[in-house]
Amino acid sequence: MDGNCSSAVASHGGVVTANAEIAPGCWRLEIRCPDLARAARPGQFIMLRCRQGLDPLLSRAFSICDLVDEDGDAVGIVVLQVVIGVGTGALARRVVGEEIGVLGPLGNPYDLGSPEEHMVLVAGGIGAAPFLMVARALRERSAAQRITYLVGARSADHVYLVDEIAALNCEIGVATDDGSSGHHGFVTQLLEPLLAPGARVLACGPNPMFKALAAQVELARARGLEFPCEVSTEENMPCGYGACAGCVVPLRSSSHPDGFRYGKSCVEGPVFPVEAIRWDLMRSTH
Ligand SMILES: Cc1cc2nc3c(=O)[nH]c(=O)nc-3n(C[C@H](O)[C@H](O)[C@H](O)COP(=O)(O)OP(=O)(O)OC[C@H]3O[C@@H](n4cnc5c(N)ncnc54)[C@H](O)[C@@H]3O)c2cc1C
Ligand code: FES
Repeated sequence: MDGNCSSAVASHGGVVTANAEIAPGCWRLEIRCPDLARAARPGQFIMLRCRQGLDPLLSRAFSICDLVDEDGDAVGIVVLQVVIGVGTGALARRVVGEEIGVLGPLGNPYDLGSPEEHMVLVAGGIGAAPFLMVARALRERSAAQRITYLVGARSADHVYLVDEIAALNCEIGVATDDGSSGHHGFVTQLLEPLLAPGARVLACGPNPMFKALAAQVELARARGLEFPCEVSTEENMPCGYGACAGCVVPLRSSSHPDGFRYGKSCVEGPVFPVEAIRWDLMRSTH
């Protein structure tokens, strides 16, 4: 059974091959769609038709969490999704064998730098989703590279992908708001001692985490510590391919009178260098 995929960055007729609740309110959805899977890069996203038909009208955005491998060939994608509202609720009820419309792969991938760097992956909540594919790509590139996965969540039930990423020989740090697993506090506190030249930080999570991270990175750089840091923003994306301007983020720009301009995060991002965004103008809730 093959998905009726056309070219890359296009609409694909995928087929649901698995859909199961793996943690309270969190579903692992597997979609067979070989052309999309072969074209996907770590950090990219897709737009999913949550239900067959026109309700809800808008597709929803999801990170590509992992690839489904068949005899060394990528034939499908894995999505990790938390049920929030009507779209994600409908997705959770998708059944194996059903056709599902997928658009992608979309957006910029993370810059994975070089194998000599210490890769520090920082996730908040469902921001964990892209990092299994990232960690797998890094480990396939180099068996020796140091990779650390730091994940924060409100409680132990919402800490995702630790076992899968640990199995790739990565160091793990867990932080929870209520102390039910790992460090009692924020994931950015685990990051502090790792900010050093030679590190490369890739982050995905809610805006409050990004704001704390941006301040932390600015402080470290002011102390002379230079390292790259990228964040993957998750603004609502009504279309996902640049047609609606519903996903704009404030980007620093010296050529604009107010020192910033709005950029469409679906096509200019969703991955940006942390310093590219005006965090004081980003909304706090997410
Ligand atoms: C790049 C990216 C990657 C993401 N990756 C993941 C992931 O891997 N896993 C995950 O769980 N979540 C991910 N998300 C978040 C996910 O897209 C949202 O949780 C999802 O859209 C919620 O949909 P919902 O219908 O359940 O919730 P709702 O709250 O019903 O809708 C979500 C949003 O869609 C918009 N919307 C809904 N209806 C309308 C309408 N009629 N008109 C205009 N706008 C409307 C609204 O802005 C609304 O806030 C990602 C988001 C982005 C942008
Ligand atoms: S989501 Fe429509 S322009 Fe970005």
